[in-house]
Amino acid sequence: MDIWHVRGGRKLKGACRVQGSKNASLPILAAMAVSPLRAELSNVPRLRDVDAALRILRHLGCRTEQEGDRVYIDSAGMTRGDIPHELMEEMRSSVIFMGALLARCGEARMSLPGGCRLGKRPIDLHLAALRQLGAEIREEEGEIVCRGGKLRGTRIELPFPSVGATENVMLAACAAEGETELCGAAREPEITALQQLLCAMGARIRGAGSGRIVIGGMVPRPALCARIPFDRIAASTLACAAAATGGSIELLDVDAQQFSTVLYFLNRAGCDIITQNSRVCLSAPPRLCGVGDLRTAPFPGFPTDAQPVLMAALLRSRGRTRITETIFENRFRQAPELRRLGADVRVSGRTAEIRGVERLQGAALTAGDLRGGAAMILGGLAAEGETLIRDEGHVLRGYEALDERLRALGADIQTEICNEEKSDGDDKSDAPAGEQAQ
Ligand code: UD1
Repeated sequence: MDIWHVRGGRKLKGACRVQGSKNASLPILAAMAVSPLRAELSNVPRLRDVDAALRILRHLGCRTEQEGDRVYIDSAGMTRGDIPHELMEEMRSSVIFMGALLARCGEARMSLPGGCRLGKRPIDLHLAALRQLGAEIREEEGEIVCRGGKLRGTRIELPFPSVGATENVMLAACAAEGETELCGAAREPEITALQQLLCAMGARIRGAGSGRIVIGGMVPRPALCARIPFDRIAASTLACAAAATGGSIELLDVDAQQFSTVLYFLNRAGCDIITQNSRVCLSAPPRLCGVGDLRTAPFPGFPTDAQPVLMAALLRSRGRTRITETIFENRFRQAPELRRLGADVRVSGRTAEIRGVERLQGAALTAGDLRGGAAMILGGLAAEGETLIRDEGHVLRGYEALDERLRALGADIQTEICNEEKSDGDDKSDAPAGEQAQ
């Protein structure tokens, strides 16, 4: 259990470097298993999810070393294509190893992530797409067993631009004979990062970012150095933290295009925003304004991962905001906790309405997921008095040294961190609250 003590009421102010991207690191680490390779990755965030991915690589027979923000991986000696339940349970997004294992070993065996059944956290799009490449996939006693035999390139149409399914197809198709055309692909920046990495590994891939990705196999190269790009959700979180407190922040080494919808809504809420080369400067008024209607959507739409932190920033706004969550059904779990601070947030189905209040008052909250936990920290920063957040380790799965970064900006925040290792990805579940495999 990690405990976050936040004393609110201080305006955040200053410049901040943003961590490397969690959501880019995880598929890139899975890609290390695709071919025998020595790789040096830099700007890798120190996160519990990254540790979980490295443990999976070691289980598969890869050698890994971590030194500061660098990770060295040697996957030449990889010996197996199975991931045991304990490791799958540590991180739900470990399902992206499926495509990599199919490419390398021609088979993959793993339990369903988090022990959920297909209905609760569907991976049907992943499985259907991999089947189209020629993989034989069966469910055996809670395990997914895939045999690739000879994968063959084909045309695959995704009915929804699933990020995970797009990544799995890109990884598996590296080993397919002929060309794979993936239509309806996800367009997130993390897909472009994966394409760049796979190209450096020797793959012929083009189209990432466009919705139509063409993969023409791979001639493996033995070594590479690559840098993990910045984390657009961590950048959004820091921008929202500054906005929540009426402060100002300069985000360094970022690409504003990658979180432009978040910046657009912060600007609509009254923040001044200047973007210059790889810097974004945001200056917030003492109270934001409501932004009207906002819907989450696949990239380039408003990211579902930034929805809880923008909600937190708007709790003290003048006016109303209506957020419709279109990606995940149960992604307002932060709302009842934020109400304990005195916020007026009403959830009805997939919509949450925020009616800004003048003051928030510190309270004791419990974080139930990664981004919701971050939203509670932001709520605490905007509230008067002390907020205590009990967190079963969710926040540190995705945020590197968030407490230190916020303290450097002037926040009064202390943490009692315990070294628990379980990981739950971003914890967005399609199951109703209470039914989730935690
Ligand atoms: C999601 C986010 C991504 C974010 C990541 C980490 C979207 C579209 N995706 O990716 O931006 O970086 O979380 O937090 O915003 N689905 C199915 N069947 C499947 C796969 C998915 O029905 O086989 C549904 C999910 O239930 C969900 C939606 O598709 O409603 C989004 O899924 P997907 O993009 O695959 O999720 P992640 O890969 O986790």
